[in-house]
Amino acid sequence: MKVLVTGGAGFIGSAVIRHIIVEKQYHVVNLDKLTYAGNLDSLLDVSEDPLYIFERVDICNIDEVKRVFNEHKPDKVMHLAAESHVDRSIDGPAAFIETNMLGTYTMLEAAREYWMGLDSLSKAGFMFHHISTDEVYGDLHGTEDLFTETTPYAPSSPYSASKAGSDHLVRAWYRTYGLPVVVTNCSNNYGPYHFPEKLIPHVILNAIHGKPLPIYGDGLQIRDWLYVEDHAKALLAVLCEGKLGETYNVGGHNEKTNLKVVETICDLLEELSPQKPDDLGLYRDLITFVNDRPGHDVRYAIDASKIESELGWVPEETFESGLRKTVQWYLDNREWWGRILTGEYKLDRVGD
Ligand SMILES: NC(=O)c1ccc[n+]([C@@H]2O[C@H](COP(=O)([O-])OP(=O)(O)OC[C@H]3O[C@@H](n4cnc5c(N)ncnc54)[C@H](O)[C@@H]3O)[C@@H](O)[C@H]2O)c1
Repeated sequence: MKVLVTGGAGFIGSAVIRHIIVEKQYHVVNLDKLTYAGNLDSLLDVSEDPLYIFERVDICNIDEVKRVFNEHKPDKVMHLAAESHVDRSIDGPAAFIETNMLGTYTMLEAAREYWMGLDSLSKAGFMFHHISTDEVYGDLHGTEDLFTETTPYAPSSPYSASKAGSDHLVRAWYRTYGLPVVVTNCSNNYGPYHFPEKLIPHVILNAIHGKPLPIYGDGLQIRDWLYVEDHAKALLAVLCEGKLGETYNVGGHNEKTNLKVVETICDLLEELSPQKPDDLGLYRDLITFVNDRPGHDVRYAIDASKIESELGWVPEETFESGLRKTVQWYLDNREWWGRILTGEYKLDRVGD
C-alpha cells in the first residue's frame, strides 16, 4: 500500500505519517509546500525510513500534483494540506480560499485523471480521503446538541467557510464523476508537535516563560478536544475500512471551556515544572482576558457514534491523560519548539 498524504509536515499530517510508517508499514509520499506551518523536524523519527518520500509541492500547482501522482502511483490519498489557523484567516483570507478551495479542486482534478487511468483492480481500491473540521457546522448554543454527519453547514470564519467549500467540492466530485471519496470532520486536536500559535502549545510556552496567558472574551467558549494520535488512528480506520461516499464525524467526548483548558495546563505545570520564572506565584496568575475574536463560535461538540458503531473507533486518551502527555512532551522537547521560536526550523529548506 502506498498512501499520498498532503500536508504531511503539519501537526496532524505528521502524526498520520508517523502512525502509517510505524504501525502499518505502508509506503508514504508526503506532498507539502512547507508553509510556515510545515515543519520537517516533526518527521525526524521516520524521514530516513525507506518507506518515506518527501515532495515539496504546492497543491495549487496542477502540473506538479499530476507529476507526483504519475511518478509515485499511490493506492490512496489522504488530503490534509490546508491553511488552518482561524485568526490568520480573519487577518488574511486570500491564502485560505486559494489553498483550501482551489488547492482541493486541483487535488480532485489530478486525482480524477489519475484514477480514470488506473486498471480495474487499482481503480476499485482507490480512495480520496478528505480531512476536514467540525467548524464547518458553525456553532451550538445549547448545552445538549451535538454535530452529526447530517447537521447543515453554517461556517462562521473565513477558515471554516473555505473548509466547507472544499467539503462541497469533494462530495460533488463523488456525485458527478464517481471519484471514490470519504470525508471526515473532526473536532479540535491537541498533542505533540502542535505549532506554537495554537491555544494549547501557546499557553504552555508562554507559561514556562512567565508571559501572559491571553484568553479571548470570557473564556467560556466550548471545544471538544481530541488527542492527535487518536485522530490519526481514526483516519487510518477510515482509510482502511471507510465506506465510499460517506462522512464520518470524529470527536473526543471531551468538551471543555477554553478557560478550563488553560487552568488545567497551569495546574499540570505546577506539578511537572515547579521551577518558575522569577517573582511568579502561580501559573494561573498569568491568565489575562483579552478582547474576543470577531465571530467567535460558542460551542462545538461532536456526535462520533457513527465511526464508533461502523468502524469500531473510540478515542483512547481522556482529556486529562492526553493533556498531561502533551505538557510533558513540550517540557521534554525544547529543541523542537525552540527552533520554531527562533525561525531556525525554516533554514535548511531547499528553495527558500
Ligand atoms: N488542528 C485541528 O484541530 C484540526 C481539526 C480538524 C480538522 N483539521 C484539518 O486537518 C488538516 C491538517 O490540520 P493541521 O492542524 O495539521 O494543519 P497545519 O497548519 O499544522 O498543517 C498544514 C500543512 O499543510 C501544508 N500546506 C499548506 N498549504 C499548502 C499548499 N498550498 N500545498 C501543500 N501543502 C500546504 C503546510 O505546509 C503544513 O505542513 C487541515 O485540513 C485542517 O483543516 C484540523
